[in-house]
Amino acid sequence: MPQLRAYRPGDLPALYRICLLTGDAGQDASPVYRDPDLLAHVYCGPYPAADPSLSLVVVDDDGVAGYLVGTADSAAFAAWQDEHWWPALRARYPLRPDDGTADHGLVELLHHPPRDEAPEGYPAHLHIDLLPRRQGQGWGRRLIETFAAALADRGVAGMHLRIDVRNTAAQAFYLRLGFTALTDSVLVRPVSPRP
Ligand SMILES: CC(C)(COP(=O)(O)OP(=O)(O)OC[C@H]1O[C@@H](n2cnc3c(N)ncnc32)[C@H](O)[C@@H]1OP(=O)(O)O)[C@@H](O)C(=O)NCCC(=O)NCCS
Repeated sequence: MPQLRAYRPGDLPALYRICLLTGDAGQDASPVYRDPDLLAHVYCGPYPAADPSLSLVVVDDDGVAGYLVGTADSAAFAAWQDEHWWPALRARYPLRPDDGTADHGLVELLHHPPRDEAPEGYPAHLHIDLLPRRQGQGWGRRLIETFAAALADRGVAGMHLRIDVRNTAAQAFYLRLGFTALTDSVLVRPVSPRP
């Protein structure tokens, strides 16, 4: 029986793999990137490093099948990345002239991370990815609700996320879970306080 549990450091390679396998608007991004780790360096790895208590995994007999990584405070997280996450990656991936690859886009991003402010009242944000074998079985809902409960325990008012507009399946999932669209690509949901 699959189970949802807290992230453990030994899960990290699986998270990196899943990030890549779901990273092209929900589909396998392996053909898109030459370096298989770059995408997760940007969108997955820093979260459990900054605050492992807000990372969750779904595990089945074949191993880790999905995850949710997130932060309770996007502004503090960005400051943490500036100090602790980006410098080592910038040294490892120097900024070179644009060669037209998707890899270059990510390298540019880690050298010049976008300063997207969290929408007012929704300071938390998250990324969620499940492998195809565990999609459509309620694990996405369980991951989001477990994350929301952890945010409620911390008194966080709301969460947001940014979505690839091509990912219409994920968009439908979030709307079903009570998110609303602020823009085409930004969705928000208040966190209900614990009763
Ligand atoms: C998007 C994703 C996280 C959803 O998780 P999931 O486990 O497949 O979804 P669930 O089974 O928990 O579905 C929860 C609810 O959303 C609904 N839902 C899920 N996908 C849907 C879709 N494509 N269209 C309409 N409703 C959908 C379900 O019917 C369910 O409704 P119910 O609980 O009221 O019956 C998962 O499919 C996934 O990881 N996809 C690939 C990676 C990805 O796209 N990540 C998001 C990047 S922004």
